[in-house]
Amino acid sequence: MHQRVSLVTGAARGLGLAVARELAAGGDRVHLVWRTSSDRASQLEPEFAGRLHRADLLESAAAHAVVGQVLEAEGRLDRVVHAVGDFESGRLDQLEPETLRRLFESNVMSAWNLVAAGRQAIRASGGAWLFFGCAGLGGGRARTQAAGYAATKSALALLVRSMAKEEAPHGVRVNMLSPGIVPHDGAHADTLNPARQAAIPMGRTGRPEEIARAAAWLLSEDSGYATGQDLEVAGGWLL
Ligand SMILES: NC(=O)c1ccc[n+]([C@@H]2O[C@H](COP(=O)([O-])OP(=O)(O)OC[C@H]3O[C@@H](n4cnc5c(N)ncnc54)[C@H](OP(=O)(O)O)[C@@H]3O)[C@@H](O)[C@H]2O)c1
Repeated sequence: MHQRVSLVTGAARGLGLAVARELAAGGDRVHLVWRTSSDRASQLEPEFAGRLHRADLLESAAAHAVVGQVLEAEGRLDRVVHAVGDFESGRLDQLEPETLRRLFESNVMSAWNLVAAGRQAIRASGGAWLFFGCAGLGGGRARTQAAGYAATKSALALLVRSMAKEEAPHGVRVNMLSPGIVPHDGAHADTLNPARQAAIPMGRTGRPEEIARAAAWLLSEDSGYATGQDLEVAGGWLL
């Protein structure tokens, strides 16, 4: 049995870091991608020695370079978790075109650059992909507080489902994990908004570790017949 090799993006903090640690605890050899968090990345060096990669995934060449570095070091790649995705709240009549473009780039194009770079490697290993959505995408509901963000996550959700169908004959699974409100050191200030928190039916916000355990399950053989799914882990928020 070979050791599984995983690549986790957005991994210098927050949900990406929690997933990286959960997969490492489960025995994976985990590579992490960060972009601007150099201090956090250097603090993680003892834990993930030689497996921290700096890349701006808005650049296709950078995505190819980071996948290339992992393949050169490990010879294989089994799992990719993409935890990048900027958030922005606000009314639609205040949403600047440039903001919507930035959200689309961050939530959709960064994912797609990574897919283009890693598709063949994941097919070769018969591995799995996991992307991050957000709770409340189902049914095309109106999201007046964060419509631009939700629209870009919806675009990603459709790409994920279509990709799942296309990759299934290659033995590859593709799923999405959609958190509710999960504060962490470095999270968007809206995760601390009392009015939003008060609307969570379970009465509390989520914890990064809870998201990470759900991610590990979606990547594991325990969910081995599930593909093209969007699992909400949100305490009932926006049901
Ligand atoms: N936390 C929540 O409540 C929540 C709720 C619903 C959905 N989500 C989704 O879950 C995912 C993770 O959330 P999070 O709260 O952990 O996010 P986060 O704190 O914003 O962290 C995202 C990380 O992505 C990295 N990143 C951003 N743009 C990048 C780029 N172009 N290239 C490479 N890396 C880039 C950043 O790295 P650097 O710091 O190194 O720049 C950042 O650390 C996101 O997709 C988010 O939309 C989160």
